[in-house]
Amino acid sequence: MKIKILFVCLGNICRSPMAEAVFKEELRKNGLEEKVDCDSAGTAGYHIGSSPDKRTLQVLAEHGISTPHLARKLEKADANRFDYVMVMDESNYSDTVSLIGIQHSSKVFLFREFDQADSIDLEVPDPYHGTMKDFNFVYELCLKSSQGLIRYLRVNHSM
Ligand code: 4NP
Repeated sequence: MKIKILFVCLGNICRSPMAEAVFKEELRKNGLEEKVDCDSAGTAGYHIGSSPDKRTLQVLAEHGISTPHLARKLEKADANRFDYVMVMDESNYSDTVSLIGIQHSSKVFLFREFDQADSIDLEVPDPYHGTMKDFNFVYELCLKSSQGLIRYLRVNHSM
């Protein structure tokens, strides 16, 4: 059975579609794309149906990645559809647990818990009101966290 991973941020237009696309690219590079299904969602519904922010699309394009994702809101049923829910910051964590139910909190992780860089900061910061520098930083965090998550999946799911 495929492992199912959902990436979650606030608006589902900047960080979580970036995380989903970068993680998928790392799966592809590792020949693991058939083993894992991914999606992303937002805890808020402000941008439902929208393509990712053009700055997210630009950073991804600079790394040879594109994504067809359209924003959607996290829903309670996602708790049963996914094995892992990767959130970007502490505020996403509490909003996600409120939406899917505390009984599912054991599948919710801060994505950067898998970033193996020696850092005490476990958040992917919201770049929405920032500059391209902030979006590039989000990319670097998504890349390191994706690589760590793949190592974790290899060990824990015999992939
Ligand atoms: P994201 O960024 O959560 O990384 O998609 C945001 C996008 C939109 C808004 C806030 C954060 N907004 O307030 O519309």
